[in-house]
Amino acid sequence: MKLLHIDASILGHNSVSRQLSTTIVERMRSVHPALQVRYIDLAREPLDHLTAAHLAARGGTPDATTVSADLRRDRQVLEDFLAADIIVIGAPMYNFSIPSQLKAWIDRIAVAGETFRYTENGAEGLAGAKKVIVASTRGGYYGGQSPAVRLDHQEQYLRALFGFLGITDLTFVRAEGLNIGPEQRAAGIAAATAQAAQLSA
Ligand SMILES: Cc1cc2nc3c(=O)[nH]c(=O)nc-3n(C[C@H](O)[C@H](O)[C@H](O)COP(=O)(O)O)c2cc1C
Repeated sequence: MKLLHIDASILGHNSVSRQLSTTIVERMRSVHPALQVRYIDLAREPLDHLTAAHLAARGGTPDATTVSADLRRDRQVLEDFLAADIIVIGAPMYNFSIPSQLKAWIDRIAVAGETFRYTENGAEGLAGAKKVIVASTRGGYYGGQSPAVRLDHQEQYLRALFGFLGITDLTFVRAEGLNIGPEQRAAGIAAATAQAAQLSA
């Protein structure tokens, strides 16, 4: 069984989503002892924005003048996603959405003919057999009855995106209220860590 572990926070050792995604991966290791883990740090090694050159290369007509290391990495990023049975993503909220580093990764894995396709009945996801666990962090509160729920373009976007790819086994391990104050931060981390420890196979 293969697990793909993605981090995107720019806050390094102070990052809660990194701490949580690591806890989740350790939990998955404990329930799947033979797990093979592949790690990608999108803050340390960011992907470029998707360009016309990437699309041309994917279409089999690469422009030799624009071939770059990033273009060569494009296929590998998709292969890593396709090969994974479980995907664990550290996904902080930035400006009500996700870090642009994570969006750049999504632009590499949402590929027509690979992870979804258009049929006469509409779009069809092709990645349905995967399990996705998101370590979601945010400074404020956006869940449940919060009036800010409409501003959540982080979890709602990820839910829409992975649903589009056909993935129904999607879990959010959420730590929120992290920037309200020390007590709320500690409570948010404790609740999410407890949730991570309960994750099943
Ligand atoms: C660039 C940036 C933008 C942020 N935007 C928001 C936001 O829109 N809403 C929010 O509640 N918190 C926001 N935060 C706070 C983060 O969500 C919070 O610090 C969280 O812990 C970040 O995850 P991390 O600890 O893994 O880096 C922002 C933080 C940064 C660095």
